[in-house]
Amino acid sequence: MNALALALDAKDLTVGYNQVPVISNMNIQIAAGEIVALLGRNGAGKTTTVNTIAGLLAPIDGTVTLADKVVSGSLNRRVTKHGLALITEERAIIRGLTLLENLKVAKASPARVFEVFPELHECRNRKAGLLSGGQQQMLAMGRCLATDPKLLLVDELSFGLSPRSIERLGTALVRAASAGLAVLMVEQQLPFALSIASRGYVASGGRLQAAASSDELGRLMRGTDLVNAPDA
Ligand SMILES: Nc1ncnc2c1ncn2[C@@H]1O[C@H](COP(=O)(O)OP(=O)(O)OP(=O)(O)O)[C@@H](O)[C@H]1O
Ligand SMILES: [Mg+2]
Repeated sequence: MNALALALDAKDLTVGYNQVPVISNMNIQIAAGEIVALLGRNGAGKTTTVNTIAGLLAPIDGTVTLADKVVSGSLNRRVTKHGLALITEERAIIRGLTLLENLKVAKASPARVFEVFPELHECRNRKAGLLSGGQQQMLAMGRCLATDPKLLLVDELSFGLSPRSIERLGTALVRAASAGLAVLMVEQQLPFALSIASRGYVASGGRLQAAASSDELGRLMRGTDLVNAPDA
C-alpha cells in the first residue's frame, strides 16, 4: 500500500496559449478524499489550469499524473481510462435533450444519479435547457459521480445559482469526497470554497501559492485583491 497515492500530481506545470504562459511551474497534489480549492481573480488562469489537467489544452511544460499514471491524451481518454471527471464553466449539458437522454448520452446510470439527487427524478423527462440552473448543475454533477471518478475537476460550481442549490451541491461533493473522491474546485465564492475545501491554491501574477488549510487560505485572501471579494 502506498499511503501517498495521489489522485492528481501536477508537476512543474506551465499552462497557457500559443507557448505564452498564463501560470508557470505549478505543483498541485490532491489525495483521494480531499477537496481542494483553486482561487484567484478573473483572468488569473484557473480555467486554463483545469482545462490543461483535463486534457483540453496541451501543457507548455510539466507533467500531469492521474492515479499514478503520467497522462498526455485527450479528455475522453482521461475520463474513460484514468478516472477523471470534469464539470466545465458551461456545464456541457445538451439543452435540447431531456434529462434522461442526457444521462444516456453520457452512459450514466439514471438510478445512480437519482440516488445522489432524488429531486431530479420528477424532471427526468424535461428538456435540460428548461431545467433551473441548480437542476442543470445537479445533472452535470450527478452524471459525473455516476461514473465513479477518482478525480473531479469543477470549474465555478456555484456560478449563478441560489444559496440553496449551492448548499445542496456542496453537500453532495462532501459526501462523494468522504467516499474517496478527490476534488479540485475553482470557485469565486470564497465562503463556499472555504466551507468545503480543506486547503487550496491561489493563482496570482502568473504563479500559484499553496495554502495548507482553509483557515490559511482565508487569511491569504483577506485584505488582498486576489479574488473579486465584495468588500475589496
Ligand atoms: N483561448 C484562449 N487563447 C488565448 N488566451 C486565452 C484563451 N482563453 C483564455 N485566455 C487568456 O488566459 C488568461 C487566463 O484565462 P482563464 O480563463 O484561465 O482565467 P480564469 O482564472 O478562469 O478567469 P475567470 O475567473 O474569469 O473564469 C486570461 O488572460 C485570458 O484572456
Ligand atoms: Mg474561469
